[in-house]
Amino acid sequence: MRKIILIALLFASAAVYAQKFEGLAKTPPMGWNSWNRFTCNVNEKLIREAAEAMVSSGMKDAGYIYINIDDCWHGTRDSLGFIHPDSSRFPSGMKALGDYIHSLGLKFGIYTDEGWMTCGGKPGSRGHEYQDALTYAKWGVYYLKDDYCYTENLNPQGAYMTMRDAIYATKRPIVLSICMWGNGCETWAKDVGHLWRTTGDIHPAFDLPRTKGDESPLGVLQILDYQKGLRKYAGPDHWNDPDMLEVGNGMPVNEDRAHFSLWCMLAAPLIAGNDLFNMSKETGEILKNTEVIAVDQDTLGIQGFIYSSNGSLEVWAKPLVDGDWAVCFFNRGLKEENVNFSWKQNTVLDSLTNKVLNPGKDKYSIRDLWLHKNTGTTEKDFNAVIPSHDVVMLRLKAQN
Ligand code: GLA
Repeated sequence: MRKIILIALLFASAAVYAQKFEGLAKTPPMGWNSWNRFTCNVNEKLIREAAEAMVSSGMKDAGYIYINIDDCWHGTRDSLGFIHPDSSRFPSGMKALGDYIHSLGLKFGIYTDEGWMTCGGKPGSRGHEYQDALTYAKWGVYYLKDDYCYTENLNPQGAYMTMRDAIYATKRPIVLSICMWGNGCETWAKDVGHLWRTTGDIHPAFDLPRTKGDESPLGVLQILDYQKGLRKYAGPDHWNDPDMLEVGNGMPVNEDRAHFSLWCMLAAPLIAGNDLFNMSKETGEILKNTEVIAVDQDTLGIQGFIYSSNGSLEVWAKPLVDGDWAVCFFNRGLKEENVNFSWKQNTVLDSLTNKVLNPGKDKYSIRDLWLHKNTGTTEKDFNAVIPSHDVVMLRLKAQN
């Protein structure tokens, strides 16, 4: 009997540690990360300015909260193995930087790697997970992006579990963002982190067909196509991450709009990657469109799906709270598309959640989320001309 109690106690104590902090990402995390625009060129001044611009540009009010430094902030480890920032780039230290970010009502995030080195060749966390988690906790970190370069023969699930447990041991709730570019992590990542990358790195281009083998850069379309079959893994506190946003990083406005709309249909984390300080009006209007963001941040947390695909035209659907639906007509082709869509003749069934959009039976009012206008009801067919690489994104509201 005593043996059984002892074993039960052992399991109970293991269970306390074998978990992630729950409830930190009930909706997909929103913030900004330095990598897409600034790559390794990070320093204290840039990060402080990004945080200030997050507030002054209205991004914070639109819901973006995390200020995440990506790769290359690192200096060296000291004789006890504790990591320090590069003191020439971060002379005031990370605690002071975190404090400043928090004084603006934002949350500080940082980057590491499960391997011996980060992808940028800086010290990785392998063998230092508990020390590093403790250090991040002392700096006041709220969000950790954990990369997977230089991991050689590690078991990824085990490696990320070590970091998860190390974070848990610090008692500081930190969002854990797993970054091993898909590779099957969706099957176990839910219990380990709050989000996980589903593909290789995004590039600021819409369509980059892979001609050079697996390592060539990914455009928006290529990343979208890699999301097939993944939606069943996503939900509140555990999200598929199709990578950070490239809005404002060089694509034309229509492509930025389509990219942002589809990331919201995917319930993707919205981590902006542009220069917040020099944001154009058009970029601001996309990133701060709170009606589109509300689709992403919907509390049901259901990832959207392709309802129909006909030539270049895809119709995406996403069930929302209170029986609402988001519907996004997406022209992925190079020519404009004439769309005629009879709501009444289309019943959209989400076989994963059994939610049904049935305008043949129920009447819905329609709001155009980019025009910010109510545009009638589902009694009438939807007619539009959609330019190349653009969208019409609608919110349907059931009328009683
Ligand atoms: C990997 C990640 C990127 C970025 C770089 C930094 O490529 O996927 O998002 O963090 O490393 O070196």
